[in-house]
Amino acid sequence: MKRDKSIELLNRAIADELSAVHQYMFLHFHCDDQGYDLLSTLFKRTAIAEMLHIERLADRVLFLKGTIEMKASEEVKQITDVKAMLEFARQSEEDAVVTYNNFAIECGNNADSVSKKLFEELVLEEEGHYAEFDDEMENMLKFGEQYLVLQSMERSKKKATAMAAAAAAASNPA
Ligand SMILES: [Fe+2]
Ligand SMILES: [Fe+2]
Repeated sequence: MKRDKSIELLNRAIADELSAVHQYMFLHFHCDDQGYDLLSTLFKRTAIAEMLHIERLADRVLFLKGTIEMKASEEVKQITDVKAMLEFARQSEEDAVVTYNNFAIECGNNADSVSKKLFEELVLEEEGHYAEFDDEMENMLKFGEQYLVLQSMERSKKKATAMAAAAAAASNPA
């Protein structure tokens, strides 16, 4: 087994995952700010999933007695348009699938079947992320402006319900 090669690939994966966590949290903040609850939650949930990928990759680096570098590969991009967000997210997941497939093959060729299996498991999860962003992109193209309007209205409804409940509680002290 070429330990150093595996450690290098694992650290490159950690760098990409760190960038994904930063970028998805940034997108989460902006969707939350604009009242798009569904997308806000999706970006946050995906950021957390990528963080857990970092944990699995880092565990493997330490097992191989390597050093966890923990440096993001990219700066956060200031994307605030929702369509651009989904396009970016979908592309990132597609890139991750290709990269991890290649890393899995490389680890297999170096007789490191455990790292190979880890990369294969990550491919499966990144494909899942891709599908989720792709579904939202399809909805957005299908429903146009309505897609975002409905998300904002959903939040207003929730707020109104909460306010009504608070008012009812105030007027009927137990
Ligand atoms: Fe990931
Ligand atoms: Fe992902």
